[in-house]
Amino acid sequence: MGEERFVDYFKENEEEKIINLSLRPQNLNEFIGQRNIIDSLSIAISAAKKRNEPLEHLLLSGPPGLGKTSLAYCIAKEMQTKLTSTSGPAIERAGDLVGILTNLEKGDILFIDEIHRISKVVEEFLYPAMENFQIDFVIDKGPYAKSVKFNLKPFTLIGATTRKGLLSGPLRGRFGLFFDFDFYQPQDLACIIKRSAKLLDVEIDDESADEIASRSRGTPRLCNRLLRRVRDYVQVLGKGFIDLEITHKALEQVRIDSQGLDELDRRYLRTIIDLHQGGPVGIEAISASLGEDKGTLEDVVEPYLLAKGFIIRTPRGRLATELAYKHLNYTYQKETDKLF
Ligand SMILES: Nc1ncnc2c1ncn2[C@@H]1O[C@H](COP(=O)(O)OP(=O)(O)O)[C@@H](O)[C@H]1O
Ligand SMILES: [Mg+2]
Repeated sequence: MGEERFVDYFKENEEEKIINLSLRPQNLNEFIGQRNIIDSLSIAISAAKKRNEPLEHLLLSGPPGLGKTSLAYCIAKEMQTKLTSTSGPAIERAGDLVGILTNLEKGDILFIDEIHRISKVVEEFLYPAMENFQIDFVIDKGPYAKSVKFNLKPFTLIGATTRKGLLSGPLRGRFGLFFDFDFYQPQDLACIIKRSAKLLDVEIDDESADEIASRSRGTPRLCNRLLRRVRDYVQVLGKGFIDLEITHKALEQVRIDSQGLDELDRRYLRTIIDLHQGGPVGIEAISASLGEDKGTLEDVVEPYLLAKGFIIRTPRGRLATELAYKHLNYTYQKETDKLF
């Protein structure tokens, strides 16, 4: 849509990839927030270690930038095993997986990012691998073709997805552990910001960390991004540390409001209210009115608006809540009022 969307988690440029690698938590102790996940995961890990068995296959789900990939690496570290990483779209044919799977040692981790995007054929090829650590593959062609079974060493598959709902029942059923990521609490984000500031070698006061946290849409990737933006200001202005004045100046440009909503979030809400009488309206209609991809809206925009209570999902579509009207300074119209 021309304008740069600051809250665009999908695009991590090369520089950011490298910086983010250095900001990643390195082990479970460094993993801030998501207490429920960390607690049950720690138990599962200790138990698996005691039994001297690999961890059960596990599925990590939640919006982008919340730490799914980071957690997968922390798990490998904790289990003292090797992690091999690939992604749903990268696996074109089942054959692409044969080499990867047969190279796994006992207890190794295979990380498949965006696992909801693997093809049906690849998915079916994975079933026996996950279930019995066996794969079937066909050698030779035509009349001589035959299927050969190959035994794998017991490994752990970690799948990550922003769209758990898109996984088929049989695939979901082959995972033993499920962890759904929530948006982070402001105090957790503030901790992450302070930790990142230390790693980036810049000083920051508490108020500034809180301020950046409140504008980070509950998302660590975004708070690191904002922190770097503020740090650039500090360097340009020649100040030695980050304070509120600099923070406000730097954040003014990104137009993220007090609730953490950015321009696309607000346009999304205005579309429902202005063009569709507040809803309920289907996602296709919203997507068409906005000229934004439906998947992006479902992956990135809606989860946060749902979590903040600005929209609700009904069988007839999305509905803007009173909170949304108030936040955008509209007069609220109750749904019942609209019927008469
Ligand atoms: N719990 C956490 N503690 C500290 N930093 C985190 C945490 N979760 C995520 N991050 C930061 O956010 C960035 C994005 O996380 P990532 O694991 O890539 O998210 P996802 O895979 O869910 O999209 C990481 O590079 C890391 O710097
Ligand atoms: Mg990831």
